[in-house]
Amino acid sequence: METVRIGIAGLGRFGKLHAATLAGLPGVEIVALCDPDASQVDAAASRYRVARGHGSLDEMLDEGGMDAVFLVTPEQHHGEQAAAVIAHGLPLFVEKPLAATADEGARIVAAANAAGVPVQLGFVVRFDAQHSLLRAEIAAGRFGQIVSIRLKRNCSRAWFPDYGDRVHTIYETSIHDIDLALWLAGSRCTRVYAVDRNYSGLTYPDACYAMLEFESGAVAMIETSWFVPQGAPANVLTGSWHGTIDAELEVIGTERSARARLLDSGLAIWREDLTHHPETSLWPEIGGSIAGALREQDRHFIERVRQRAGSAIASADDAVEGLRIAEAIVQSAAQSVPVSLA
Ligand SMILES: NC(=O)c1ccc[n+]([C@@H]2O[C@H](COP(=O)([O-])OP(=O)(O)OC[C@H]3O[C@@H](n4cnc5c(N)ncnc54)[C@H](O)[C@@H]3O)[C@@H](O)[C@H]2O)c1
Repeated sequence: METVRIGIAGLGRFGKLHAATLAGLPGVEIVALCDPDASQVDAAASRYRVARGHGSLDEMLDEGGMDAVFLVTPEQHHGEQAAAVIAHGLPLFVEKPLAATADEGARIVAAANAAGVPVQLGFVVRFDAQHSLLRAEIAAGRFGQIVSIRLKRNCSRAWFPDYGDRVHTIYETSIHDIDLALWLAGSRCTRVYAVDRNYSGLTYPDACYAMLEFESGAVAMIETSWFVPQGAPANVLTGSWHGTIDAELEVIGTERSARARLLDSGLAIWREDLTHHPETSLWPEIGGSIAGALREQDRHFIERVRQRAGSAIASADDAVEGLRIAEAIVQSAAQSVPVSLA
C-alpha cells in the first residue's frame, strides 16, 4: 500500500487537529470526511482538498474507497461507530474513550480480533517524549518499586458547557491519567475510591478525585476539574479552541522520583490579551503542520495500517482495562464506597 487513504469522522476541535496532522504526513491522503454539520465538512474539504464529504459515517463507509478511518466524534457515539467501521473490515483509530462501557469495549476488541482489524486508541500522552522516557526508566527498574503516582488534569472552565452533558469527566479527562497510571505502574488495579462534585449543574460532575490501588502495592491519585480561569496562562490556542490544560505528574519510586508539568514549556509569549505558554510536546503547530505527540501517534497508526497489525503502544485491550477502572470510579463516587475490581 503506497498511499494510505483516510476517512475522518467528526470535524470539531480535535477532528480538525487530526486532519491537520494527517495532511502533513507523507504517504497519507485524506479522501473522505463526515460530520452532520455540513459547514465543518465544507471548511475541512476546501482546506485539505478532499473531494468527498458526507453527512453520516454510514454514508462514508458505504461509499468505500478508504484504507482506514479516524473516529473523532463525541464520546457517546464511539462504541456503535467503532463496531460499524470494524464490520467494514477497516483499520480504526478511535479517540478516547473506546466505548461507553467496558463490556461494549470488550465486544469491540473481540470483533476486531475476529476480523483481523487493527484498532488504536487516542492515548496521545503515551506518545509524549517525556512520558515515553519516564516509562523506559521505570521499565528498566531504575525507580525500584513504584510507591505512588499522582496525576492532575484540570481544564478551562469555559470549555465545560461543551462537555458537561456528554460523559462523566472521568471518561473525558482522567481516562488519559487512568491509562498513564496503568502504563507506568505496570500492574493491575485492584481497588478504587473516588469522590466527585457538580458545581456547574450540568448532567455530569465538573470535578473528580480518585485513589487507585494496584496489585504491586503502588497507589495512584488522579485529580481532574474544570475551573481553570480564563486569565490562566494559555497553552491551547488552536483555531477557536483557546484555554488551558493544567496537567501534572509525579512518580515516587523506592529508588528515584520524577515530576513533569505540561504548562512549563519554557516558552512564554506575552500578548496584550493573554500570556501564551505554547505547549511543545502534545500538538504544537509549527509552520501550519502539527508536530509532537499527536504527529507521532498518527504516524504510528499509519504504519500499523500498512502492516495491518494492532498497536503495541496504545492497544484496545489496555483501553478496555481503563474503562473498567473508570466505571469503578464512577460507581465509587456515586455510592461513597471503595470498589474492588475482580
Ligand atoms: N486526546 C485528546 O487529548 C483529546 C482532546 C480533545 C478531544 N478529544 C476527543 O476527541 C473526540 C471529539 O472531541 P471534540 O473536542 O473534537 O468534540 P467537538 O464537539 O469539538 O467535535 C465533535 C464533532 O463531531 C461531529 N459529530 C457529532 N455527531 C457525529 C456523528 N454521529 N458522526 C460524525 N460526526 C459527528 C460534531 O458535529 C462535531 O463537529 C472526543 O472523543 C474527545 O474525547 C481528545
